[in-house]
Amino acid sequence: MAERDATLKNRTAMYNDNRLNIGLFGANCSSGRAVTTVPERWSGAWRDTLALAKAADAAGIDFMLPIGRWKGYGGDTDYQGATLETLTWASGLLAATQNISVFGTVHAPLFHPLIAAKEFVTADHIGEGRFGLNVVCGWNEGEFDMFGVAQRDHERRYDYAQEWIDIVKRALSPDNDFDHKGEYFDLKGVRLKPKPWGGARPMMMNAGSSEAGRSFALRNCDGFFTSASRVSLEETRDKVQGIKAQAADYGREIDVYTVGVMTLRRTAKEAQDYYRHAIIDGADWSAVRDILALKKISPETVGQDEYNLKKTQYANGMGGLPIVGDPDMVANMFADLSRAGLRGVGISMVNYGDELPLFVEEVLPRLKKMGVRAL
Ligand SMILES: Cc1cc2nc3c(=O)[nH]c(=O)nc-3n(C[C@H](O)[C@H](O)[C@H](O)COP(=O)(O)O)c2cc1C
Repeated sequence: MAERDATLKNRTAMYNDNRLNIGLFGANCSSGRAVTTVPERWSGAWRDTLALAKAADAAGIDFMLPIGRWKGYGGDTDYQGATLETLTWASGLLAATQNISVFGTVHAPLFHPLIAAKEFVTADHIGEGRFGLNVVCGWNEGEFDMFGVAQRDHERRYDYAQEWIDIVKRALSPDNDFDHKGEYFDLKGVRLKPKPWGGARPMMMNAGSSEAGRSFALRNCDGFFTSASRVSLEETRDKVQGIKAQAADYGREIDVYTVGVMTLRRTAKEAQDYYRHAIIDGADWSAVRDILALKKISPETVGQDEYNLKKTQYANGMGGLPIVGDPDMVANMFADLSRAGLRGVGISMVNYGDELPLFVEEVLPRLKKMGVRAL
C-alpha cells in the first residue's frame, strides 16, 4: 500500500475528494446523542463502536467524532452516563480501520498539554495520519468539580486554551528542546518525539458558540462547528460566509461543519413515526430537564415558550439539525448543507449500528450522483 501523504491539506480533506464530509458524532457515549428511553438506544459499548467504525470505514464515511464527557446527566437512563475516553477510544479504532479519520475530544483544562501532545502523536502514528483533535474548554461545572478544577470565566477559559494550544502545536512542530514561559505554564527543555505521522500536525476542530469560543476556533483551528439554520438554506449560507469572512480577518481559512440528528427510514411516514416514538413520546424528559438546568435554561430564565422549544430541541440530540425522512429527502437535506457552504456534518442516530446500513445503501449513492460526494 502506498504511504499516505499526511499534509495538513490532505488531513483536512480527510484524504478524499468529497465536497461534504460526513462523520458519526457521539458514538462513544451510552445513548449517543439521543436523549431517549427506547430500549434500542445506543449502548456506547466498545464492541458496538468497533463494529460501527469498521462498517463506516468500509462504506467511505469520513470521520468519527467522540464526545469528551466525564459524568452522565442522570435522568431515567443516566443519559451519557457510560462513556469511553476519547483518545484511547480513537487509538483502538484507528488500529482497526484503514481510511476513516478518528478524532479525540480533549478538555484543554483537564489535560497537561505535553501529555495531550504525546497522546495525539501516538494515536496519529497508529492511524498513520488519520487522527484529528476536537479541542474543547468545557461548560459542565459538575465535571470540573469532579476533577477539583475550577472552571474559568469565558474570556480566561479561552485565554488559557490559547496558551495550551500554542504549546501543543509547538511540541508537534519540528521544534525540540524549547522552553515555554507563559501565564499558565512554565516548561523547560520541551522535547516530543516522534513528531506526527508525515510531519504535519493533525487537523484541529473546535465548536465554541460564544464570541470568545468562536474567535479561538478561527485563530487556531482548521474546522469550526456551528449550528445550521432550521429555517432556510440562505440563513445557513449567510452564517457560513460570515464565519469564513471573520476567519479571513485573521488571515486564515476555515472549514465550517455542523451537527445533524438523523432519522432515516424507507418511507417518510416511517421516519416521522419513529421520530415521534423515540424522540418525543420516548424522550428521557427528566434527563432533558437536568441538561437544561445545567445550562441555566428554565421557564424563569427564558420564558415558558422558549423553554418548551428548547426541551424538544435538546431531546433531539441536544440541539442538532433534525434530518428526518426517506432516502430522497435525507439526501436532499445533505446536499442543501453542502450548497450552503458547509464542509461537513457530524451525524447521530438513535442506534448507529442498526441505522447506518440504510444510509450507506440508499443515501450515499444518491449523494455521489448529485456530485456532493466522490465516495
Ligand atoms: C460538534 C460539537 C462537539 C462538542 N463536543 C464537546 C465535548 O465533547 N465536550 C464538551 O464538554 N463540550 C463539547 N462541545 C461544546 C463546545 O465545545 C462549547 O463548549 C459549547 O458550544 C459552548 O461554547 P462556549 O465554550 O464558547 O461557551 C461540543 C459542541 C459541538 C457543537
